[in-house]
Amino acid sequence: MIIFKTISSLQNHLKLLSGQHAKIGFVPTMGALHEGHLSLLEFSKKENDVSVCSIFINPSQFNNQSDLIKYPVTTEQDIFLLEKNSTDIVFMPSLEEMNTLKFHSKGDFNLDGMDNILEGLHRPGHFKGVCEVVEKLLKIVQPTTLYLGEKDFQQCMVLKKLVRLLQLNVCVKTCPISRAASGLALSSRNLRLSEKGKVQAATIHKILSNIKAHLTINNWLQLKESSITELLNNGFEHVDYLEMCDMESLEILNNAPENNEVIILIAAFIENIRLIDNIKTSANILTN
Ligand code: PAF
Repeated sequence: MIIFKTISSLQNHLKLLSGQHAKIGFVPTMGALHEGHLSLLEFSKKENDVSVCSIFINPSQFNNQSDLIKYPVTTEQDIFLLEKNSTDIVFMPSLEEMNTLKFHSKGDFNLDGMDNILEGLHRPGHFKGVCEVVEKLLKIVQPTTLYLGEKDFQQCMVLKKLVRLLQLNVCVKTCPISRAASGLALSSRNLRLSEKGKVQAATIHKILSNIKAHLTINNWLQLKESSITELLNNGFEHVDYLEMCDMESLEILNNAPENNEVIILIAAFIENIRLIDNIKTSANILTN
């Protein structure tokens, strides 16, 4: 495993590889790695000659400074895990060097409103920051395939749009959510949960699974209300949103369509920590 800390040293190495027509898989991260990140790297390793993992905590995507300050930093452990999992290349640029890179867009893309709903509504400027840094990373690494985790489903959709808008020659692959045995979606933020909090946080997956089992074309609003109550009765302090959306446009729906899959997305706070999760489903046909 080679660790690069400057853009030029990484690019010199990647130039040699692309000269050999190597397929490059890329997993961007902000560190505090867990099995979810490692599963993305597994997909990458299977499908590419070389896998690159970046670790860069991007301040511009945090709308809340205290969230940035509290973001877990576990660099030694991250490097240990990446080495153990035979990652080829780790890219750990400095904030100073990333800040010197300036692109015309500065993250301001026309995302057809996808950046103003759900996460975008509750974290103003978040997707602008994500787009800004991912544009930089993609232009530095120039991967064949970008691997993203579906826990951040809206981010996956936004970044697919970004790649289309920038006309980048990169394939975007979204990969399934990794979960703990309790059903809790793996997230770097889980590191900040107490043992009790971790148990209670699994209620998110429980309510999403319950919605999947019971959703019909006309009961969404009842299910939504009872699910929010269940979360608030199980240690959650606040629910930012629980919405049912079209899978492609993320348009918020009030009724489940008869034939199409939808996605249920949630963001909620427990122990002051904001967790997100989602589940894909479709309306069940009720038989008498
Ligand atoms: O999902 C993340 O960890 C971040 O949003 C990403 C894609 C690495 C950009 O900073």
